Amino acid sequence: MRETWLHTLRAPAPAVAVRLASPEAHAAVQSLAAAPESAVLTTQDLRVYYGSFLAVRDVNLTIVRNRITAIIGPSGCGKSTLLRSFNRMNDLLPSSRTVGRVLLDGQDIYDPSVDPVALRRRVGMVFQKPNPFPKSIYENVAWGARIHGYRGDLDALVEECLRRAALWDEVKDKLDQNGLSLSGGQQQRLCIARVLSVAPEVILMDEPCSSLDPIATLRIEELMRELARDYTIVIVTHNMQQAARVSHYTAMMLMDADRAGELIEYGETNILFTRPRDRRTEDYITGRFG
Ligand SMILES: Nc1ncnc2c1ncn2[C@@H]1O[C@H](COP(=O)(O)OP(=O)(O)OP(=O)(O)O)[C@@H](O)[C@H]1O
Ligand SMILES: [Mg+2]
Repeated sequence: MRETWLHTLRAPAPAVAVRLASPEAHAAVQSLAAAPESAVLTTQDLRVYYGSFLAVRDVNLTIVRNRITAIIGPSGCGKSTLLRSFNRMNDLLPSSRTVGRVLLDGQDIYDPSVDPVALRRRVGMVFQKPNPFPKSIYENVAWGARIHGYRGDLDALVEECLRRAALWDEVKDKLDQNGLSLSGGQQQRLCIARVLSVAPEVILMDEPCSSLDPIATLRIEELMRELARDYTIVIVTHNMQQAARVSHYTAMMLMDADRAGELIEYGETNILFTRPRDRRTEDYITGRFG
């Protein structure tokens, strides 16, 4: 029964489901768990309020370096709020208040000594709707590096970031065209190139494919896997197949009776999608609610 829905979930790579059921695959998953991996972000009893409304309750979570972590859960359960707490984007909303700690490489990012602008260079963000600046493709990538004081060869940097974002071949002959003239999928890759230009450690992505067609979506997923060699990625997604295909770890959130978002299960994606500990995770990923 479970293999049937996992099979669907992991399409178009159903072989994974079959292999996962074998003892060898289980051993492989265990060895991944034992691999030397380090925490890049850690939340400690994190709470986020909007006014008096508690949107995210007591989240304790460790994001592993050079891995892709997916945050899943029904609408309104606090996924975006949690994601935004990782680079203090909630600070930009006057009603929001954050309690608890978020450690980046062991340092509390909510400490008053931390400059949020410098923090957001280390922890970049890609949004649901591609949002290039109304400037040239070149400037979209060069701008951030320049304002952060980049002193090297800007042309080379722009090329490298566009290559890493798998966009170079499509735009190399029209770098002075407006970024807004690109297709949606190209615009999203341009936004990823823009984030890369300031050499972040972590890239946050809030439903980055929800406005893209399936081909552009697969393109971004491929790119994420490439980027995970050098960066840590945290992605919010409503697409269970995407979470299962692309992420190494999955965090499942739900709302409690007061509509506060809680982390109800967190672990390796292979395990969470095949043998969830919490019945509510299974109900959600099999589509019984949400
Ligand atoms: N700026 C805000 N002011 C007040 N309440 C907010 C604000 N942003 C979010 N909320 C509330 O906080 C809760 C969590 O919202 P959030 O956007 O984090 O959920 P989500 O899981 O990302 O939902 P979705 O899947 O629909 O994007 C919701 O109840 C929402 O209405
Ligand atoms: Mg959201």
